[in-house]
Amino acid sequence: MEIIICENPTSASRLAALHVAAVIRAKPEAVLGLATGATPVALYAELAELFRRGMADFSRCSTFNLDEYVGIGRDHPASFSRFMREKLFRHINVLPENTRIPDGLAGDIPGHCAAYEKAISAAGGIDLQILGIGADGHIGFNEPSSSLASRTRLKTLTRKTREDNARFFGRGEPVPQHAITMGIGTIMEAREAVLLAFGEAKAQAVANAIEGPVSASNPASILQMHPRAVIFLDDLAAGLLQRSDYYREVFEQKPHWQRGDFGGVVFWEDKR
Ligand code: GLP
Repeated sequence: MEIIICENPTSASRLAALHVAAVIRAKPEAVLGLATGATPVALYAELAELFRRGMADFSRCSTFNLDEYVGIGRDHPASFSRFMREKLFRHINVLPENTRIPDGLAGDIPGHCAAYEKAISAAGGIDLQILGIGADGHIGFNEPSSSLASRTRLKTLTRKTREDNARFFGRGEPVPQHAITMGIGTIMEAREAVLLAFGEAKAQAVANAIEGPVSASNPASILQMHPRAVIFLDDLAAGLLQRSDYYREVFEQKPHWQRGDFGGVVFWEDKR
C-alpha cells in the first residue's frame, strides 16, 4: 500500500486528481470506478478544473459507479446518479452513455447486478477505482461481514450507515434500507484502488484498514491484499496510525524514478 498523508483534504484531493489525470493521459480509454459521499467531492472538483484547463480529457473514458440506493430513482436528490451528474459528469466531457450507475429501481435486482458485472468485464475491467470509507470500514456499500469475494449484489445497510447518510436526505425522509453495490471481489479486480479518507471521524476506520488484520469485519482492510492500493489521507484521518512517521518518510524519500509510479506525474511540489 502507498499511504500518502497530506496536510488537508484539498491538498490530498489535488494530488489524487493529478494522479487520475495522469492515468487517463496514459490510457485515454481508461475505465474509472467512481465513488460518492462527501469525501470525493473535492477530487471531482479538481478533476473538473483539470478538464477546464485542458489537462484532462474524459471523452474516451467510461465509468462505473460503486453503488446506488434501492428504491429511489436517478433524479432523487439523494441518489448517487444525481450526485454524479451534479458533482462531476456535467463539468467534464465524459459521454453520458459511457457512465454507468446501478439502477435503484431495477425490477430484477439479481439480473441487474449480473448485467452490471458483465458490463464491467465487457469494458475491459476497471483501471482505477476511487473509494471512500465508511466509519464502520465499509467500501462501496459492503458493510462489515460482507464476503471478501463478493460480487455486485443487494446489501442491507447498517443502522450506523443509514444514520451517517441521513444528511443527504430530506428532513424526516427515511434512508433506504437496501443498496446495490459492487462486491469486494469486484473492487479488488480493479487494476488500481485509490482510497481517500479525511477527518477525525474516519481515523479509527483508516487505522483498522491499514494496520489491522484483514477481515470481513473491516471490509476496507482487504486493500492490504491489493497489488496497487493508494491511500490519500489528511492529517486528521491519519491520526491513529502507528506508523504514520514511516509513511511520511517513504513518500518524502521516494526516489525520482518511483514518483513516476503515479502515471508520470511528479507531484513533489504539490505535497505538503
Ligand atoms: C457511503 C458510500 C461509500 C462512501 C462512504 C463514506 O455510504 N456508499 O462509497 O465511501 O459511505 O461516505 P462519506 O465520504 O460521505 O463519509
